[in-house]
Amino acid sequence: MAETILITGGAGFIGSNFIRYILRQAQDDSIRQAQDDTIRQVQDDTIRQAQDDTIRQAQDDIRIVNLDALTYAGNLENLRDIENHQYYKFIHGRIEDSKLVRKIIETENISGIINFAAESHVDRSIIEARPFIDTNIIGTLTLLEAVRDYKLSRFLQISTDEVYGSLGTEGYFTETTPLEPRSPYSASKASADHLVLSFVNTYGINALITRCSNNYGPYQFPEKLIPLMILNALEEKKLPVYGDGLHVRDWIYVEDHCSAIWTVYQKGKSGEVYNVGGRTEKPNMEIVKSILKILNKPDTLIEFVKDRPGHDRRYAIDCTKIEKELGWTRETNLEDGLKSTIQWYLDNPEWCKNVRSGEYMEYYKKQYDK
Ligand SMILES: NC(=O)c1ccc[n+]([C@@H]2O[C@H](COP(=O)([O-])OP(=O)(O)OC[C@H]3O[C@@H](n4cnc5c(N)ncnc54)[C@H](O)[C@@H]3O)[C@@H](O)[C@H]2O)c1
Repeated sequence: MAETILITGGAGFIGSNFIRYILRQAQDDSIRQAQDDTIRQVQDDTIRQAQDDTIRQAQDDIRIVNLDALTYAGNLENLRDIENHQYYKFIHGRIEDSKLVRKIIETENISGIINFAAESHVDRSIIEARPFIDTNIIGTLTLLEAVRDYKLSRFLQISTDEVYGSLGTEGYFTETTPLEPRSPYSASKASADHLVLSFVNTYGINALITRCSNNYGPYQFPEKLIPLMILNALEEKKLPVYGDGLHVRDWIYVEDHCSAIWTVYQKGKSGEVYNVGGRTEKPNMEIVKSILKILNKPDTLIEFVKDRPGHDRRYAIDCTKIEKELGWTRETNLEDGLKSTIQWYLDNPEWCKNVRSGEYMEYYKKQYDK
């Protein structure tokens, strides 16, 4: 019997990568199984047949339903290659819509939820905080109430290292670092994290949290640092860098984040928080220069712009717990990750053109044309 997982926010950057990762993972596992099973069979046809059979069986094990509101950050083009996959279904709607969430749980026979849905952009939260409260806090509460009432077997909240606040030049965030959010975005994510743990404690639901550092990779909306710099550099436009460019972030390739999420969903302990990081701390300026170098463009394209209010100076994550307890490690280093990300943006000009039209252009003007 197939297990159906509800993915919320699956049309966004990380959610869409995760859905693709899960559908591919099921296939890879089954091919490996088929190869093991047929190791003594010499005929190619037999092997192919065995692979086909086990692919069918393994994919029966996981079905994905994706609930997404399709805000400016949600884009069904991110999922075009799998939109007709027989183990995938898209539903348009909001996570705060309790009636809809409950209907989906009943009609789709949902066993667990992974909550990616969020207003996720710090700069936008500074312009207007309210949508962050609605989606990130009320939305998470709505999902938790449904998990409790339908006794779902698992709820995983995708959170962020930004809930810990800002670090000085030394030290790392661990899972026990007190939460000190400093932007409306991180405050709303921290509230949601508290709600998740309170529901475990109060109602005994099975739920856990991952807190990850900065992601980059294919399908990232070009408001975020790395895609913005890649696309501007390709067009030889100025690369706007906040303040002195020395804000430090820990970067992780999105596929490594996806494998961490799946590891935690399968093996993590209810009520626990797992930090996820790339062990790759870099100042923004170094990232921007690496992009220019790979693209063979001059550093003179860099332009310093006024710093963001309350801009956290340094995030650095200690991910020893997930490594030691669940056996996860990141696989892609920054150089390889940046190269394949740049290649993806070069290979997908149509996607870039589409997401950068309309509302995005208005936002860009407001933020950088001062
Ligand atoms: N991007 C990062 O570097 C990063 C790092 C750590 C954690 N996270 C967390 O991971 C999650 C996904 O991040 P992302 O970068 O993919 O974000 P994103 O902005 O690209 O995608 C968010 C998705 O949620 C959808 N959404 C927004 N409001 C919704 C609502 N009310 N109901 C249903 N869907 C809604 C959007 O349409 C979009 O598809 C977020 O919870 C974020 O806080 C992101």
